[in-house]
Amino acid sequence: MIYILYGVSGAGKTTLGTAWAKELSLPFYDADDFHPATNKAKMAAGHPLTDEDRWPWLTLLKAAFPQWEEKGGAVLACSALKEEYRSFLLGELAIPIHFYHLKVAKELLQERMSSREHFMPVALLDSQFEALEPAQYGTEINAAASLENCLMELNQSINKKASLGLYGLGVMGKNLAINLADKGFGVAIYNRHVAGSEEKIAQKLASAQPELPFFPAQDINEFVASIARPRKIILMIPAGKTVDAVIDQLRPELDPGDIIIDGGNSHYQESIRRTVALKKQQLHFYGLGISGGAKGARKGPALMPSGAKNCYPQLAPIFEAIAAKDREGKACSGWIGQAGSGHFVKMIHNGIEYGEMQLIAELYHALRYHAGKTTEEIASLFEQWQAGDCASYLLEISIQIVRTKEGEKPLLDLILDKAGNKGTGNWSAKAAFELGSPFTVGSAALQARFLSAFKEEREKANGLFDLEKRTFSLEEDSLQQAYQMARIINHAEGLKVLQNASEEYGWELNLAEITRIWTNGCIIRSSLMEQWTKVLIQPTTHPLFSLLNKNENAQGINALATFVQMGLGALCALPAHSAALNYVLSWQREQSPANMIQAQRDFFGQHRFERNDQTGTFTYGWE
Ligand code: 6PG
Repeated sequence: MIYILYGVSGAGKTTLGTAWAKELSLPFYDADDFHPATNKAKMAAGHPLTDEDRWPWLTLLKAAFPQWEEKGGAVLACSALKEEYRSFLLGELAIPIHFYHLKVAKELLQERMSSREHFMPVALLDSQFEALEPAQYGTEINAAASLENCLMELNQSINKKASLGLYGLGVMGKNLAINLADKGFGVAIYNRHVAGSEEKIAQKLASAQPELPFFPAQDINEFVASIARPRKIILMIPAGKTVDAVIDQLRPELDPGDIIIDGGNSHYQESIRRTVALKKQQLHFYGLGISGGAKGARKGPALMPSGAKNCYPQLAPIFEAIAAKDREGKACSGWIGQAGSGHFVKMIHNGIEYGEMQLIAELYHALRYHAGKTTEEIASLFEQWQAGDCASYLLEISIQIVRTKEGEKPLLDLILDKAGNKGTGNWSAKAAFELGSPFTVGSAALQARFLSAFKEEREKANGLFDLEKRTFSLEEDSLQQAYQMARIINHAEGLKVLQNASEEYGWELNLAEITRIWTNGCIIRSSLMEQWTKVLIQPTTHPLFSLLNKNENAQGINALATFVQMGLGALCALPAHSAALNYVLSWQREQSPANMIQAQRDFFGQHRFERNDQTGTFTYGWE
């Protein structure tokens, strides 16, 4: 660390700097010694220095920093500094620098200077005050106070601790760290060291944002030591083994009562396991679902924290300060429930996200390749929908995506049609199935991604059949109703999984609160989510009962049936829309074909069945 004490001449920077450097056992440097001889002569002759004169001086100074830092740091006394000088000194090197402004009144300085010899005449003081631009960051020291008091102030400033720590400065971590620091939290930051690719990441972030209260650390010890107790440490690292490895790294350095918060997309069962393991050391673990991508992390994500309730008051002010705000200005964050529930809720959020994305992708594809629409026509249609009940973040970005061109070509035509996935969609489907909860739209979306990945196979199969190219046309209003109905079903399935999980794991999830958290900051924010929040205040058994209680919904189901019928008729695959239609049709009928299934099961395995006309279970002598 390089401590730069700056102020106009006479503020005491040399005396104070020398004394402080002695206390810190660091070398002391006077920036005046780095002035080229021509500058010194000019000043002695009573001529103020220009910017032009100062650049060679600043360049010489800056060139010395890496050496000083390598030897453990230094204290540097410097004359009045303009902001552009400070930016220059801070830039690129990624060396932690802290600025101290030695503040003192001009009258006192005039008095001090006239009572002792100084190579700069008193008349130059005015020009120094002109050149002084106190920084919005760093620390201000009352330089009119005694030497002892100034030293005390300086020492106090370096003993300051960060309010929390953030480990992992990838895209999400970095943006979240800036968001936290921007809200006034002192943030200790640390990133692993990977030679050649991840070097001095924390230092670089702190130097790039000198106005923010960052505490960059070079190693784990420094990182942990710089955080106020009880420590709160947010991990922004890839889910999986890395989380365990980092926890093992941190564990020996932590004290009882400290809280580790995992902000990645970890599996909820892993979060439960980690909570139990850390409890043995009297450490707390919090699973924190974060949604909103890089922009959300920076400007306001939706947060889904879970863990021991008695820890939450320590965390609430932090989460609430950085989260997005809902319509009423309330933070899109709130305690979800006991261990694992936050990551479970985030996982289902992603399952719904998969469904929402697939529905839009299917519509785009059907309109473009089976209804003869141009990209501009599709974008305009989506834009009309975006102005009404269908408005959502995902539709909004899709409009922009459809419109984007590279040269004359839509960019979409240049993007390979193989979808990636990081696992949360897969986990949502598995978790739903383990609970016996249908998750048809989310799983159709997941399987559509899987199928898309077999590009070569698809290309080969394309030449296999002699299928005629068919088109369809549908009224745009009807298409919009079909889309909205499919979305409602997709959301309802996800919410139903949450209801079932809550019952199974005793989480007491509050669906109205969860959907409220999802109204802003997250990827699935939408007008529909606002509706869910209102109707789920007193939820009935199935979320669809809460929303689909009006006749107009019959129109939506009919529209969805028409679209699926016409789309499939035109040989256009619509897995997510079909799944939604099948779900709602299966869900709303009194008689299902499951009597046949039961009979078959009993036929070959004597699995027994229940009857409509008698109580109990029965088997039948089929053969
Ligand atoms: C979010 C996103 C984010 C990410 C997921 C999905 O809420 O901010 O869900 O978490 O997009 O990891 O990624 P895949 O589509 O790669 O599975």
